[in-house]
Amino acid sequence: MAYVDAATVPAVRSGAIKLHGPDGFEGMRRAGRLAADILDRLAAHVVPGVTTAALDAMVHDMASEAGAVPASLGYNGYMHSCCISINHVVCHGIPSDRVLREGEIVNIDVTPRLDGWHGDSSRMYAVGDVPVKAQRLIDVTYAAMMAGIAAAKPGNRIGDIGHAIERLVGEHRFGVVRDFCGHGLGRVFHDAPEVVHVGPPGTGPELRPGMFLTIEPMLNAGRPNTKTLSDGWTAVTRDRSLSAQFEHSIGITETGCEIFTLSAAERGRVSSLTCTQDSNAAKT
Ligand code: MF3
Ligand code: CO
Ligand code: CO
Repeated sequence: MAYVDAATVPAVRSGAIKLHGPDGFEGMRRAGRLAADILDRLAAHVVPGVTTAALDAMVHDMASEAGAVPASLGYNGYMHSCCISINHVVCHGIPSDRVLREGEIVNIDVTPRLDGWHGDSSRMYAVGDVPVKAQRLIDVTYAAMMAGIAAAKPGNRIGDIGHAIERLVGEHRFGVVRDFCGHGLGRVFHDAPEVVHVGPPGTGPELRPGMFLTIEPMLNAGRPNTKTLSDGWTAVTRDRSLSAQFEHSIGITETGCEIFTLSAAERGRVSSLTCTQDSNAAKT
């Protein structure tokens, strides 16, 4: 695998892994903070009766007001400011006049591009009271993302992130989705490498300081298999079981990683700098 200094190459996907310096970290902190703030501010609006199109419009407005552009808008023909994935939708749900109902679980995935840098983050929202089993799927998915993040440090490989996620999922009978993965990002929205959310450990590209990645595991309450609907985007569980996802954007540091997209609540609970498997990032 080739590694290049991001400052010396064009901001396009080339297959090589870009290594960023302090300017990149600063740009990603700002974009990541905006993504987190948008997701924080949406929470009060994810209630029974709201349409996903209304939420999409809010994402658009919040990004615009901050001087950012939703990177999804116009991306490969996708014409919305975020993805909103309800219940058995795994990812890439398209905002519409669909109304949210009590008891549903919803992922909202936002990607503001601010001064050229991409903050990519998603989280789960419960619409009113949700079944215990749905809440457990959400909680395990969050813990799985954080376990993957705790394994994101120099010396480890991409496969170690996936292995940590699989280990965390452990005895829970949830399927880890293989059809979609995390990715490099920075000035490019989807860049090398692919971040698969399963092992084996010790495989794949080595993690080096300056790499920017997303970790965005999707867990299904049933089998891991997905299919994409005829709209070309909406991915659903084949067995129609519920699905959950969380996503953070991170940068590999000398000792571990920095999470660029921490929510306000996480900022009180988790250090943005995570160093080892026993750091507080793993104990959420
Ligand atoms: N935000 C998604 C990701 O995590 C990508 C969405 S692409 C879109 O990588 F076009 F569907 F928005
Ligand atoms: Co995303
Ligand atoms: Co992503």
